[in-house]
Amino acid sequence: MTSTTPETGRITTPIDTAIAAALSTVRRNIAAYGDLYPDDTTRGDRYELRPAAGSISEGGNRGWTTSFWPGMQWIAWELTGDVAFRAAAERHATDFARRVNAGEDLETHDLGFLYTLSCVAPWRLLRDDASRDAALAAADHLMTRFLEPAGVIQAWGDLADPEQRGRTIIDSLMNMPLLTWAYEQTGDRRYAEAVQRHTAQLEAHIIRADGSTFHTFFWDAVTGEPLRGGTAQGAHDDSCWSRGQAWGIYGFALNYAAVGDERLLNAARRCADYFLDHLPADGVAFWDLVYGDGSGAERDSSAGAIAVCGLLELAQRETDPARAERYDAAAIRILDSLVENYTPRPPESSDALLLHSVYDLPKGNGVDEGSLWGDYFYLEALARVADPDWRPYW
Ligand code: GLY
Repeated sequence: MTSTTPETGRITTPIDTAIAAALSTVRRNIAAYGDLYPDDTTRGDRYELRPAAGSISEGGNRGWTTSFWPGMQWIAWELTGDVAFRAAAERHATDFARRVNAGEDLETHDLGFLYTLSCVAPWRLLRDDASRDAALAAADHLMTRFLEPAGVIQAWGDLADPEQRGRTIIDSLMNMPLLTWAYEQTGDRRYAEAVQRHTAQLEAHIIRADGSTFHTFFWDAVTGEPLRGGTAQGAHDDSCWSRGQAWGIYGFALNYAAVGDERLLNAARRCADYFLDHLPADGVAFWDLVYGDGSGAERDSSAGAIAVCGLLELAQRETDPARAERYDAAAIRILDSLVENYTPRPPESSDALLLHSVYDLPKGNGVDEGSLWGDYFYLEALARVADPDWRPYW
């Protein structure tokens, strides 16, 4: 429902109201955390500081989710022009440059998530050279994880770890835009070839015949042979982890735009169609798509927020107008439900922008809580809908 602001006569939409609520929480969290980092997820709907680990102290920059925090600040700055948001994000960019230069906690493919939002964003928005250097250093580090002859980037852990050797996960698709950006910056085709080969391997092996996806897939690191799919965060090896499917929609759509291979467009469509065919009545997925209405399973609102961004991206890239219209409409339906049913009322009742996400249910981690990535993609979805010309950082 829309209303009119009396002083200006301007129409206020539910999206405007949702953005205002989200930005009030970002502002409150900047005051609460200063230059430190909240944990991956809330506990009882409140973010605590990220726990200390090894030589990194409490609130320090470690793990794969810290960049979602400055990512929200960059969007908040773009939406409002308020320099307090920009100043906070710039301080985090400096800390991310320190992290990559110090070689601190870099043994992960999630350098793409980390450095796209923390450092590519200020390069895109402000042409900040120090951020550009940091993002290129992160891209180079990501390239050290490229495995020949399989042609994939290893997801987790030390490259010599036998448990992790040759493993990719569907989330990796979202890490490729850092390499695409590095190619655009440098003209070095090694980055573009890594993106092309990694995405081709995932397109061929991580999607099943029915359009559902494995969370994780292994290749033989010596022969390059594709071995087996399975899960780490989903319900079963042969089920479909909701957030993975959402990463598939968004990741294949973004990489289609970069690589231009029609098979990646089809992959994004297949992920989207399966996701949309397995949604409950309110449009927000349970944490694994094996669950439906009446199952009593927890929702993963973060999968919904990622899917909204992915569907909007896919609709923009779509060559078939009927499909584009369907994906746009589905995105709006999911976002409306997130705004209506999954946000804290009043906003101060939680530190999260979006309630009810699941991090890792099999390990009992972050179940039915807010999450930094859920918050980020929810704000990105709102920014995309509020301003169709808004340019994502990926
Ligand atoms: N990329 C890790 C996750 O989605 O939980």
